[in-house]
Amino acid sequence: MSDKKERLKEILERLNNDEDIEGVKAEARELIDEISAKDLSEAEQALINEGLEETKLRHLCAAHLEVMADELDELQRDLEYSHPLAVLIREHDEILETLNRLEIAVNKIDKLDEYDPNNEVFGELKEVGELLLETEKHHEREEEALFPEVDEKGITGPTRIMRMEHDDLWPYKEEIAELANNVSEMDFAEFKRQIKELSEHLILTLRDHIYKENNILYPTAKDVVDEDKWESIQKLSDEIGYCSFTTLEEKGE
Ligand SMILES: [Fe+2]
Ligand SMILES: [Fe+2]
Repeated sequence: MSDKKERLKEILERLNNDEDIEGVKAEARELIDEISAKDLSEAEQALINEGLEETKLRHLCAAHLEVMADELDELQRDLEYSHPLAVLIREHDEILETLNRLEIAVNKIDKLDEYDPNNEVFGELKEVGELLLETEKHHEREEEALFPEVDEKGITGPTRIMRMEHDDLWPYKEEIAELANNVSEMDFAEFKRQIKELSEHLILTLRDHIYKENNILYPTAKDVVDEDKWESIQKLSDEIGYCSFTTLEEKGE
């Protein structure tokens, strides 16, 4: 491992141990100008290979974000419109918008005393629920088409965490969609309690998940996956299929 990566690994280790965070961060920022997402992920992988516990992986992920901001802008500038990563990033924007809609709808519902079939917020919640179910196609493309190519390069930490989070998120989406469909038959206070609890967890976790993919996993994938692999990733993605909100072609052309 190069000298730079050794220094980086040491910094990550210290961040991970909560040691003098501010001082370490300043040091990390200095180093960041000289390193790539690939270097960073490889340094993390070295820590994992040396036996870092699974539970500490998430801390490492947070540490990574501390030192690696604004990766997304740079990545987006580098990608063709039809590149599989560009498609996934645009889907992230749509998913974030759906989460905003969910947040607004749940806040409105929270202020109501009873179910009213004429209140359009319940239709809105239903629509949002369906969009959430659709995001599964997005995660499937990540897991089946993209992640294996990153794993192949020996970077297995970030993909492992992202898979764990996909598994965690699925039941929440399913239950929110189900609640949205069953509200008329439920005790309204109980409905409000459940929809609030489920949505809070989903919104928080999925926003965070997308942030990590945009700023860690995707930039790393762009760096480590061989150029000629993207064609087969795209092909496999096409086979898996897209969401109703996916844009594959640039408008106005
Ligand atoms: Fe994901
Ligand atoms: Fe994603």
